[in-house]
Amino acid sequence: MFGDEVVFELKDVGFSYPSGENALEGVNLSIGRGERVALLGANGSGKSTLLRLLNGLLFTKEGTIEALGHVLSEAIMGNEEFSFAFRRRVGFVFQKADAQLFNSTVREEIAFGPVQLGWPEAEVNRVVDDVISMLNLERFSQRPPFRLSGGEKRLVALASVLSLNPDVLLLDEPTGGLDPRTQRMLIRLIQQLSGAGKTIIVTTHDLQIVEEIADRAMVFSEDHRIVADGPPSKLLSDRDLLMRVNLIDPQFHKHVHDGNHRHYHSHD
Ligand SMILES: Nc1ncnc2c1ncn2[C@@H]1O[C@H](COP(=O)(O)OP(=O)(O)O)[C@@H](O)[C@H]1O
Ligand SMILES: [Mg+2]
Repeated sequence: MFGDEVVFELKDVGFSYPSGENALEGVNLSIGRGERVALLGANGSGKSTLLRLLNGLLFTKEGTIEALGHVLSEAIMGNEEFSFAFRRRVGFVFQKADAQLFNSTVREEIAFGPVQLGWPEAEVNRVVDDVISMLNLERFSQRPPFRLSGGEKRLVALASVLSLNPDVLLLDEPTGGLDPRTQRMLIRLIQQLSGAGKTIIVTTHDLQIVEEIADRAMVFSEDHRIVADGPPSKLLSDRDLLMRVNLIDPQFHKHVHDGNHRHYHSHD
């Protein structure tokens, strides 16, 4: 049913929300199987919108989006057989994990996908146990997801996606709000999943972790275009680029001189 080598192919994709808010302009990209890609850009540059388009949650009339060999459209995602199969292959962890948690315990949340697919109970239990131990979720597996902290919710959302063992993972700001140890665990997990051959696309504005989680980075400008695409080490050493797109502000340090006024000094 699905093509194998090219995972996503976008041609001249633009997108505006119904409110008229522009979110993407002139996006051309191709992502192959097994790639690890970081999407970098300031707030509002269009990263989350791109992930929603890749996942068939939003559709555009501007340009075409091919995923796993199929042009994504409202019509094709409306086909239950296709969308079921597609959602199994492409897992998406939202920036706001709340939006995807609705079961009464963490364990049920993680089991939800496999149960929907009608897997035998023993198989469901095995997979759920595996995912719980992989993400160290034992201590809250019987608690309601909505009573967890933001970081914990994010892990549960990731666990509920991993239980279906998708080939493609779209992770929206996965490390935001995590403590250092949990963040380290997540970085290792991303490396492990990538090592297992999965295609991983991660948005972040945490430049510190990009080289650890990606072999390719794409940089969005604040006017919603992809303005750079290449190895993270190369893009991250391009200070002009990063300043232009509002990802770093290294030269200005704020100094409070007295209670009444502030100065901004340039340092080199
Ligand atoms: N649901 C929405 N309705 C209207 N505008 C939106 C919505 N979501 C995002 N936007 C707008 O689209 C642009 C891109 O947003 P987004 O993709 O969320 O950026 P990022 O994830 O890079 O912070 C922003 O200008 C944002 O305000
Ligand atoms: Mg976002």
